[in-house]
Amino acid sequence: MLIKTSHDGFCHPVASEITTQRVYEGRRDLIKLMATGAAGAALASWAGRQALAQTAQKPGKLAALPGGKSAVAGALTMEKVTDYKDATTYNNYYEFGTGKSDPARNAHTLPTKPWSVAVEGLVKQPKTYTLEDLIRLSPQEERIYRLRCVEGWSMVIPWVGYSLSELIKKVEPLGSAKYVEFVTLADPKTMPSVGSSVLDWPYVEGLRLDEAMHPLALLTFGMYGEVLPNQNGAPVRLVVPWKYGFKSGKSIVKIRFTDKEPRTAWNKAAAQEYGFYSNVNPTVDHPRWSQASERRIGEDGLFAKKRKTLMFNGYESQVAQLYAGMDLKKLF
Ligand code: MTE
Repeated sequence: MLIKTSHDGFCHPVASEITTQRVYEGRRDLIKLMATGAAGAALASWAGRQALAQTAQKPGKLAALPGGKSAVAGALTMEKVTDYKDATTYNNYYEFGTGKSDPARNAHTLPTKPWSVAVEGLVKQPKTYTLEDLIRLSPQEERIYRLRCVEGWSMVIPWVGYSLSELIKKVEPLGSAKYVEFVTLADPKTMPSVGSSVLDWPYVEGLRLDEAMHPLALLTFGMYGEVLPNQNGAPVRLVVPWKYGFKSGKSIVKIRFTDKEPRTAWNKAAAQEYGFYSNVNPTVDHPRWSQASERRIGEDGLFAKKRKTLMFNGYESQVAQLYAGMDLKKLF
């Protein structure tokens, strides 16, 4: 993101074969039926069709991680889901290189087993969770979220996880805790770009505690019904759908509660370009490009139009109250 090429350089759309679409046709039918009140009768056949379609399109290498239906407002979108291939080959994971195809090529070296996440700082119940403990902490849900990258592209991805708030409630933050810092793995032995000067490693992100408690903030273990591929942040990452994608840290090893705003990796690299909040906001341009529109990955035909970027990435009715009274031009 920091690399100074022209903005267009960031946004090469990739060719898309819409193979995952079938998986979500069933869900879309169900949503329509719910609107007309006829959902019950269709539920069984919908679930059956979805299971069939998922089996049909899985590459078969990763373990299944199905999620139950989420009751969280905003957890579903009717938009077309991005092709699995695009979502797993067009990535940002700078520890494995700065090119979009580098993570898919290089992240096979990421050591995801055993894995643990230390939860520490201003909490009553600090604890180091094994990945297995963390996965079992709350039922897995599927959430279909838009992810809008600061570079100007977006995807729609069916993530699997549970609200980060479930973990936060377990560790009982102290009254003095105001922020949550997310520290991700930085292992120079297995991550070829750790040690390069592109960022100050480890990759660190942060949220205000009330943002982290918002039910849409997802502690994520899977996507498309299976465990996360390494290039997408295995074995556990964050997805914060109303913020630019870089707030969604991958391969988290530490979650720390603090009373001070964390210094995040991108903010340290270029404070004038990447603020702490980094809410998706079409009215606040990046200093080097507009944020008013976006290219949906997969919509890459000759006549494909850019889409208008929505305030808070379309999650405004759910999250705007978190920022009431704030000047979002200054606190970008
Ligand atoms: N997490 C780590 N540890 N390292 C990274 O380079 N890149 C971020 C974010 N999380 C990044 C990271 C950026 S810029 C984006 S847009 C999203 O991951 C991309 O997630 P995706 O590749 O699953 O689409």
